[in-house]
Amino acid sequence: MELIDGKKIAQQLQDEIAAEVKQFVSGGGKVPHLAAILVGDDPASMAYVGSKVKTCEKVGFKSTLKKFPATISEAELLHELDVLNNDNDIDGYIVQLPLPKHINEHKIIEAVKPSKDVDGFHPINVGRLVLDLPTYISATPFGITQLLERYNIETSGKNCVVIGRSHIVGSPMSILMAKNDKFANCTVTLCHSRTKDLKAHCLNADIIIAAIGKPNFVTADMVKQGAVIIDVGINRVDDASLPKGYKLVGDVDFEGCAPKCSYITPVPGGVGPMTIASLIKNTLLAAKKEIYA
Ligand code: GUN
Repeated sequence: MELIDGKKIAQQLQDEIAAEVKQFVSGGGKVPHLAAILVGDDPASMAYVGSKVKTCEKVGFKSTLKKFPATISEAELLHELDVLNNDNDIDGYIVQLPLPKHINEHKIIEAVKPSKDVDGFHPINVGRLVLDLPTYISATPFGITQLLERYNIETSGKNCVVIGRSHIVGSPMSILMAKNDKFANCTVTLCHSRTKDLKAHCLNADIIIAAIGKPNFVTADMVKQGAVIIDVGINRVDDASLPKGYKLVGDVDFEGCAPKCSYITPVPGGVGPMTIASLIKNTLLAAKKEIYA
């Protein structure tokens, strides 16, 4: 079993991006600038956005964090998006999800200018992904393809089971893994809460990508010997013995499954760090106008 070190690969990706930024800026290009909108005070969202902003500084980007109270109205938030859409210094921006219930997430995502949608959530960018057109691939799926590629994991012709059909991870992941591309070419099965006999699907999988948001959901009896497991889950589980009062666990029972795997991602330190590196990569693509001229 080999552990997939997301922290190490994310650092590699960040170093590559930092070198590319230096070269781009010394050649007269503008300093890439990412903005993030954070609504409310959800601790996990605050932590994610904080890491995103910190990573921008590390790779030589400018960053802007715009914080708003959970009481901001949908109209006010749409106005803030309009400001970012029209600010020529901002190359890309994200609106951290989830948003408070009184705000229509779809409406917000559709209001992001597609050329600045470095999350890759806008329907135009999702459509471009499906059609193999240049686009911003959403950060978590993009990060996972990077892990597979950089560990030289054979994917062509393999059976890949994606568990979870979210718009952010499961759905785009299933599309990517089926593509005629070097990190993909899989036969993909997208499993979800209504899937019959999930265990049988998983036992047939060479690659399992778990993105269901349930702690320790994938257990050893569901895993074929030699399978590759990518664990997208970041679940907080109460643990009074720890200073924070909780620990982070994935969607996969790591201890049980790891001995059966050829490769597996840990939580934390697997997919998580790659997500931020991928967002930064998309922002560089935006600043270089490589997706939209
Ligand atoms: N919430 C959880 N993951 C993400 C992400 O990748 N982007 C944004 N904007 N919000 C998220």
